[in-house]
Amino acid sequence: MFTQDKDIKEKVRCTVEKAIIEAQSDGVFPSDIKPEIKLEYSSAKGTGNFTTNSVYLFSQKLGKPFEDVVKEIKSRIASDVISSTTVALGIHTNFTVSREEILNSLKEMAREGEEIGKVDLGKARVMLIDYSSPNIAKPFGIGHLRSTIIGQAVYNIYSFLGWKCIGDNHLGDWGTQFGKLIYQINKENLDLDSLNIDLLEQAYVRFHRESEANPQALDAAREYFRKLEAGDKQAKRIWEVCRKISLQEFDRIYEILGIKIDYTMGESFYEGKVKEIIDLASEKGYAQKSQGALVFLFPNNKLPTLVLQKSDGASTYFARDLAAVKYRMEEWHPDILVYEVGTDQELYMKQLFSASDLLGLAPENKFKYVGHGMIRGREGKFSTRKGQTIHLQEVLEEAVIKARALIDNVQKGKDLDEEEKENLAKAVGIGGIKYNDLSQTPVQDIIFDWDKILNFKGNSGPYIQYTYARCQSVIRKETSLSKKITAEKMSEKDDYWGLEEDIIMYLLQFKDRLVEAHDSFSPNIVCTYIYSLCQKYNYFYNECAILNCPDENEKEIRLNITKTVSAVIKICLSLLGVEAPEKM
Ligand code: ARG
Repeated sequence: MFTQDKDIKEKVRCTVEKAIIEAQSDGVFPSDIKPEIKLEYSSAKGTGNFTTNSVYLFSQKLGKPFEDVVKEIKSRIASDVISSTTVALGIHTNFTVSREEILNSLKEMAREGEEIGKVDLGKARVMLIDYSSPNIAKPFGIGHLRSTIIGQAVYNIYSFLGWKCIGDNHLGDWGTQFGKLIYQINKENLDLDSLNIDLLEQAYVRFHRESEANPQALDAAREYFRKLEAGDKQAKRIWEVCRKISLQEFDRIYEILGIKIDYTMGESFYEGKVKEIIDLASEKGYAQKSQGALVFLFPNNKLPTLVLQKSDGASTYFARDLAAVKYRMEEWHPDILVYEVGTDQELYMKQLFSASDLLGLAPENKFKYVGHGMIRGREGKFSTRKGQTIHLQEVLEEAVIKARALIDNVQKGKDLDEEEKENLAKAVGIGGIKYNDLSQTPVQDIIFDWDKILNFKGNSGPYIQYTYARCQSVIRKETSLSKKITAEKMSEKDDYWGLEEDIIMYLLQFKDRLVEAHDSFSPNIVCTYIYSLCQKYNYFYNECAILNCPDENEKEIRLNITKTVSAVIKICLSLLGVEAPEKM
């Protein structure tokens, strides 16, 4: 179910527009100028709850003094929503909303719970996202981690906002690199039954060492890939084993990460579909022979050419990608196609989108490229020993061990048993890694720093999870406490309306922030939002008595704040693919 009700911002906007229209029909303002009021949530103290410069712009169009226009509107605002309207800084009009209205919105949010912010932007349209896409016969590297985490978060945000999402893992399971592996396996006569991912990786490394000294090895590898594409049985058998071993390894990683991708078509799926693409490109006049190969030429050379087919007839990454576009359009009819791929392929993605458009496979404006930067270590490059790729599984295991130590530290003498602590360590360790990645702008390079990732302070996964558990603990205690606390009169110094109002107004902004994250494909907006929300809540928690609040009404407000904060954090963590443990 989607939230469709008018929210408080919308109510204020309508009230102001209504006042203007009324003034227009009374002939006070000319009626040929359409009022368009755009409101912002006020961020500074003393500027009301909403602010706008639209009234100023309107007065300019009317050619009337701004103050007079505000005065006229103000006199016509007949609503219990707006309690005061003021002019500030020459061009802004600020609106203060009545406390009652703010409290009503809080109740409404507390009632909505985990449906808060769920607006139907997708309207059942289809969004296809190509993400993760590791290469087989190589271990799942830290580089593909970003695509997996960011791609999944984008998928989740789009699903939450009403899109029908299709995730497709464009596995690198075809291409010349398999020729290299087949060559090496044959040359060393490796036993297929005892192969594993490490042995495959080592064989690949040995091939590269050999080909540096002996360039003929490369020719032989190409020949093996050609054989593979021609359906050679022995080559195919080796390829199958490599693929199976890799998939097992990837599944293990996806399992640890808690990720499930809808489809894994993989590049090999398009093997038989490339010819059609090549014919189409030739027919349309974009394909041209060049030194034996077939290349794709962009009109006026607006983009660099790309190889469609190698001189030995082998298919290319590009041709398979074009075939994938065609297949995806025919199979799922997506309204948008999102590609979450490293920024090192940014130009290539432009070429792919443009070529797809030229070939009539899908219009360029349906494509959206979401790139991610590299992961760097604190001291520069992120690597173990020289040249060695970091294995993701080792990093994830280390995260859980480190998280466990952290938990043992804070949990001393608390009420979790061994199994609960182990599960918590997984949630915190893996969640910390994901959050660290998602909290930064995707296209930027990010720093991998354990001290920041696993820290209960700052914009980190553990901090957010901890705040969630804190809310949950308040909610749990509330239900176990007897309801009969006698209402006492609160003293004036117990009035924390300023703090409460601040959190409620901030909670109300959640919807807008989510839409922003959606429109800009930026899960980091969600992180920035919950981080501030958690900071506000923790401050409030330390300042005000919640369960021990002597006034029943006030206590309910504080509990509703707690419940809503908790629900919003839970929604956000689930969008980010981070677990929200109840106890910590
Ligand atoms: N396997 C590729 C790589 O690791 C990424 C694939 C991205 N998706 C695509 N449709 N090209 O570089």
